[in-house]
Amino acid sequence: MSSPSKAELIHMFKGIPFTTRSSLELLNSLDTFDAREDDVLLVSYPKSGTHWLAGVITKLYNASVTLTSPIEFGDISKLEELNQLPSKRIIPTHLNYNMLPTKFKNKNCKMIYISRNPKDTAVSMYHYYRENPNLPTVDTWAAFFDAFLEGDVVCGSWFDHFLSWEEHRNDQNILFLFYEDMKKNLPKIVKQISTFLGIDISDADIQDICLKSSFSEMKSDTEKENSDPNHTVCALTSNRKLIFRKGTVGDWKNHFTPKQNLKFEEVFNKKMKLSKM
Ligand code: A3P
Repeated sequence: MSSPSKAELIHMFKGIPFTTRSSLELLNSLDTFDAREDDVLLVSYPKSGTHWLAGVITKLYNASVTLTSPIEFGDISKLEELNQLPSKRIIPTHLNYNMLPTKFKNKNCKMIYISRNPKDTAVSMYHYYRENPNLPTVDTWAAFFDAFLEGDVVCGSWFDHFLSWEEHRNDQNILFLFYEDMKKNLPKIVKQISTFLGIDISDADIQDICLKSSFSEMKSDTEKENSDPNHTVCALTSNRKLIFRKGTVGDWKNHFTPKQNLKFEEVFNKKMKLSKM
């Protein structure tokens, strides 16, 4: 059987490629979503460490929360499905800031944005694409590299996504985090998240959360048969090995040629001129 074509897997919404698993009806109706003041949004460009952060947050709340799949994923029934859930809801999203349902903004919902070195993000996404039948086939790393720089991948341009959120980095209800900082000092970031969410937590509990959130722990947890598939942020695969791949900083060095690195830097410097970070 031949694999589905790109047109069957990807469609455009407001100039951004989405998988066809996000129905256009749902995307068009997002603004009608009834956010609650105590919703917490977990925001990321794909492959930035979303599952890791979700693991930390759910452990911080200690089971009294519901982690959903991304709000933009599914058909129109998704909004009603979310409506039926009790509070507190932890809602992931890969939407850029401008596409976010307005009520999340009006109600000052807490939002945590996680970002990652875009070079490592590109590499992580490449492997994800390669192994995932729900995404278009990629022939080579070189072809994927070009598509990533052009924003011709799911969720569009990394640069546009980052810049749309960065503009709001000083909003009181938004916490900006970096994957690399989590790798460097997870206890410090867990403390920062708990303060932001208003959760009182002891140092011992922070240590415990960090142990349980290590790459190896999270990877082996998901390989256990009893791991709950609903507690996944990634709605495009049930193959959790695709999500917990390598978990390192700097894997781009194993993929980028010197020429690609130069090209990336050139585009990065041009696009990120507007960045304050
Ligand atoms: P790699 O493909 O580089 O290994 P997302 O959750 O946004 O899809 O991001 C997936 C990336 O986060 C993958 O990167 C994955 O390995 C990494 N990751 C997941 N859990 C992690 C953890 N506990 N510690 C470090 N990295 C983790």
